[in-house]
Amino acid sequence: MTGPFRKIVAVLEGQTLSPPPIWLMRQAGRYLPEYRETRSRAGSFLDLCYSPEHAVEVTLQPIRRYKFDAAILFSDILVIPDALKRNVRFVQGEGPQMDPLDVSEVATLRPDGVLDHLSPVIETVRRLRQELPKDTTLLGFCGAPWTVATYMIAGHGTSDQAPARLFSYRNPIAFERLLDILADISAEYLIAQLDAGADAVQIFDSWAGVLGEAEFQRYAVGPVARMVRKVRGARPGARIIAFAKGAGMNLKTYRQGTDANAIGLDWTVPLSFAAELQKDGPVQGNLDPMRVVAGGRAMEEGVDRILQVLGSGPLIFNLGHGITPEADPEHVADLVRLVRGIT
Ligand code: CP3
Repeated sequence: MTGPFRKIVAVLEGQTLSPPPIWLMRQAGRYLPEYRETRSRAGSFLDLCYSPEHAVEVTLQPIRRYKFDAAILFSDILVIPDALKRNVRFVQGEGPQMDPLDVSEVATLRPDGVLDHLSPVIETVRRLRQELPKDTTLLGFCGAPWTVATYMIAGHGTSDQAPARLFSYRNPIAFERLLDILADISAEYLIAQLDAGADAVQIFDSWAGVLGEAEFQRYAVGPVARMVRKVRGARPGARIIAFAKGAGMNLKTYRQGTDANAIGLDWTVPLSFAAELQKDGPVQGNLDPMRVVAGGRAMEEGVDRILQVLGSGPLIFNLGHGITPEADPEHVADLVRLVRGIT
């Protein structure tokens, strides 16, 4: 018995599809009026993440509008520090905040109970698989240990992750211990998402670009490789997309180093280099989100170039980072038509 054909699953297994399937990072978000409406009814941002009813609703909103080839679970990478009792809150206009993690606190982090805390998110995945069209791929996700650690150490977002870099140089042993804890619970969390019906999972390493060469190997490749091993050890054949934003030339060894099925590319990755990476397997990306805000010719040009250079190999069309709140929903409709060749 073969199941329904899911295009993004097919590309993750190495097929080339023309036109390529498409989804967008942060496709459920503030650029959509219906998201803002549900968001205001849900209470706090974390209440939205932990309400299966509301989280299912906002996950489905962009699918209804654009019939994207994948739905991505609505949640956040910072539910892991929240589950580790770091007092996470999302302050309107200021971004996420939590209690900054001191070196002496690493040994006090308690991984037990994390999956219980996240059970509403797993329930969201279960309901999504029931409610989604059968041919829509369902993606789960989590943050990569390095990126989650940067928020835990600083206690908020920073522009260069100086606090986490400094912590890693001053306290390498405690830092590696922290990454191991995060890798192990994140792998368990991904396994639970796969068991609940996710077809594939994406690991977001949004801050990989601030790491030096040796640190990239140690703190970006190493922990993600550990997660992939753990997930595939428990669920052979699990499909994994790894997105290391800003990794540049380090992407050369990222796929082999992590053993991810596909690698995500941000918009600064030159397309000629992307084509080299695609010889080793599927790639995902990499339109500049600002081209979607601009719309019109700027968006057309960007799409054309990507399709020209990467369209004849295994490609999942996406942005090079999340869609931003100022994007016009009509531009997104235009983007989907452009990629699908509908005039
Ligand atoms: O892609 C999707 O549609 C699924 C949902 C999703 C969200 N966050 C919802 C969200 C996903 C996959 C994420 C991942 C995430 N969260 C990352 C990695 C990807 C990236 O963007 O680099 C990171 C670094 C975070 C942490 C985070 N969450 C920040 C820094 C912020 C504040 C900045 C902002 O855009 O407001 C959030 C909040 C957040 N997560 C929002 C959404 C829709 C906006 C909050 C709101 O609605 O008030």
